[in-house]
Amino acid sequence: DAEGYTHFMRKEIHEQPAAVERALRGRLDGRFHTAHLGGLDLDPREARAIRRVKILGCGSAYYAGQVGAQLIEELARIPADAEPASEFRYRNPVVEADTLYIAVSQSGETYDTLAAVQELRRKGGRVLGVVNAVGSAIARECDGGVYLHAGPEIAVASTKAYTSTAVVFALLALHLGRIHDLSPADGRRIAEGLRALPGQIEEILRQEDRIAALAADLAKYRSMLFVGRVRGWPVAREGAQKLKEVSYIHAEAYPASELKHGPLALISPDLPAVAIVPDDELLDKNRSTLGEIRARHGRVITIGHTEAGEDAVVVPKNEPELDAILLPIPLQLLAYHAAVALGHDVDKPRNLAKSVTVD
Ligand code: BG6
Repeated sequence: DAEGYTHFMRKEIHEQPAAVERALRGRLDGRFHTAHLGGLDLDPREARAIRRVKILGCGSAYYAGQVGAQLIEELARIPADAEPASEFRYRNPVVEADTLYIAVSQSGETYDTLAAVQELRRKGGRVLGVVNAVGSAIARECDGGVYLHAGPEIAVASTKAYTSTAVVFALLALHLGRIHDLSPADGRRIAEGLRALPGQIEEILRQEDRIAALAADLAKYRSMLFVGRVRGWPVAREGAQKLKEVSYIHAEAYPASELKHGPLALISPDLPAVAIVPDDELLDKNRSTLGEIRARHGRVITIGHTEAGEDAVVVPKNEPELDAILLPIPLQLLAYHAAVALGHDVDKPRNLAKSVTVD
């Protein structure tokens, strides 16, 4: 059973402060302001030779990979992107010797991700795993990697594994960054930001009652938009994914800047938008998007640092580079409580399996 919690999903949401502690434990170096990841098996010379990073996964692992790609590009200044593992393996990818490939999987058993790793290995690519399940098929197939140490995740919808994956990518980005061009001062700033995360997650979880009330109200809609820019974009995608998985409310994520190229036509009082609005250099741009939605009588729910009011959830501020780690947490609670309000089987959504081990 879920040990006193109504559902495993809620239990796992509440385990995140401890899961993040475990992901960080023993990995931050306070002297050189970097991170040590024992299983990487990548010496500094090899790390310096990486020209590109390609991250592969499915579902929430893919979205966490997108957060990871942004962190690596931002902190280590190595071009990085994420792609669904299934797309990658079917498109006869060009595999390059100076690209570092990273497979992301909570279970370590997802067939599409495993097959992508095997295809890469067959073509001589170097693949690291960011995996939760120790000794799993994907972990065994990779050249090295980093374990999440998030503990077992039972609910089909990933929560703590998603967050731990993002944290592990921040550690990897810090590690690669300090080998490339990230200054000791910036390294220290990021390391301190990482250390603050567990306490800040607790702060978000203390807002659960308010978020639950908001979710119960949002459960009356049939469809929702999730919008974000740059760091907020994978957060919007993961938020939409969580909502549709457990509440069956249709949810579509869009980059905020793309709204005017299509989805603005949908805005009406029946289609609320959840907007990811961190206090970063794009705040003014995001505010103008909120204005565009409101001008068309769309309801806007903000997740960020600066907006206030009944439809705003305020998240503690950390370093802007780490925003994509904290901002999804209210969205997990929103999806969970919307599903509970609708009476759904939260831990076992219809048509889904925890790990898809078939083609
Ligand atoms: C899906 C699950 O089928 O597999 C998602 O429903 C999960 O929740 C995805 O994110 C990937 O799983 P894993 O174990 O490879 O991270």
